[in-house]
Amino acid sequence: MMRRRLLGGVAASLIGLSVVIRMFSQTPGPKAPRQASWELARDAIKDGGPRPGIPDFVNWLTAREIYPCEDTLRKSPAVRDLFDESFHYNPKAAARLCGPLTLAPGAPPMDRALGFWERSNPRLSAIDPPFPSGAQLSAAFWNPVRLPVDPNQGKVVELPVRSGDRTITRRIRITIPEQARAGSAPCGPPKGQGEPATAGVQDVSLDDFFWVRLNRGERYNGASCGDFAVLVAFHLVHKDQGRWLWTTFWWDPESQEFGAGRPRDFQGAGDRPRVWAKYAMDASFDSTGTIFNPWRVEERGSNCAQCHAEVTVYPDRAAAQTISFDSVTAARAHFK
Ligand code: HEC
Repeated sequence: MMRRRLLGGVAASLIGLSVVIRMFSQTPGPKAPRQASWELARDAIKDGGPRPGIPDFVNWLTAREIYPCEDTLRKSPAVRDLFDESFHYNPKAAARLCGPLTLAPGAPPMDRALGFWERSNPRLSAIDPPFPSGAQLSAAFWNPVRLPVDPNQGKVVELPVRSGDRTITRRIRITIPEQARAGSAPCGPPKGQGEPATAGVQDVSLDDFFWVRLNRGERYNGASCGDFAVLVAFHLVHKDQGRWLWTTFWWDPESQEFGAGRPRDFQGAGDRPRVWAKYAMDASFDSTGTIFNPWRVEERGSNCAQCHAEVTVYPDRAAAQTISFDSVTAARAHFK
């Protein structure tokens, strides 16, 4: 009798122990932001179609494709001018951008919800539900490089890179390898002027960046068919376990500090998948502390979440009420 009870007790505590072990293994603690960011980005930089060689985060729908909301859920990205707009939303984000404003019965999709919100009482102060885990937003920053007539010419660019909380400016000259020249034939002869080599300005091959050749009909800041759009930086914002993870990448193959923890297999779209490891990264869940992208001089703030929390609130001046779009700018811009 004694013995059975004892065994029962052992069994019970073993079961208890295994429940505890399972709980720990099923709910991993929150990942450090940098580690989470490298992993989430690794998927977002993969080739996503429909245009081959283009990372998924550039293929996601743009706001102009998402709105108006009719049909949005059935839309898949078209082959389009990639430089027309630089902000993109993954399917989960797009679905929420077109979901009902709130859980209230009859709440219309966000692009037709302004009147509904104004008439509702009390007025909700935030979209409900917020964006789901797995929603992602991106912004791509390109630098146009014209194909020079003279193969010895290149383009001198200023390269802001981050060191600690400071920005350092490097000057480099982007040069065009022979192979990249060759592919421009269908666009006719090159038209770019270019600049000669200069002492103190390091030559860097175009192939050290992720780049896209502009197709016929594509234009970007003076570049056209046969020229290049060079990816100098990008933002990825992920909803991860209920929180926004703000991440920013910029070209700097030398940064130890912001290259730390990059997975060995950090490879993405294009003919040179390893080129993606030349981008440095910073990431944060927090609305305090420093996180900025040296390429985005117009965004003077040093914290993504803090600024976005302000710019993504829609104020109704008459009633001194506001609605927040879960810190996502695009929803606000299309709230009508
Ligand atoms: C000082 C303010 C400010 C800061 C700081 C800032 N942003 Fe933004 N961001 C904006 C504004 C304003 C827009 C929208 C611009 C527009 O609609 O033309 C925007 C747009 C974006 C978009 C496009 C998608 C969207 O609808 O919001 C992404 C992605 C983004 N920012 C990420 C970031 C990340 C990551 C950081 C930090 C590294 C950051 N931002 C820092 C103000 C800021």
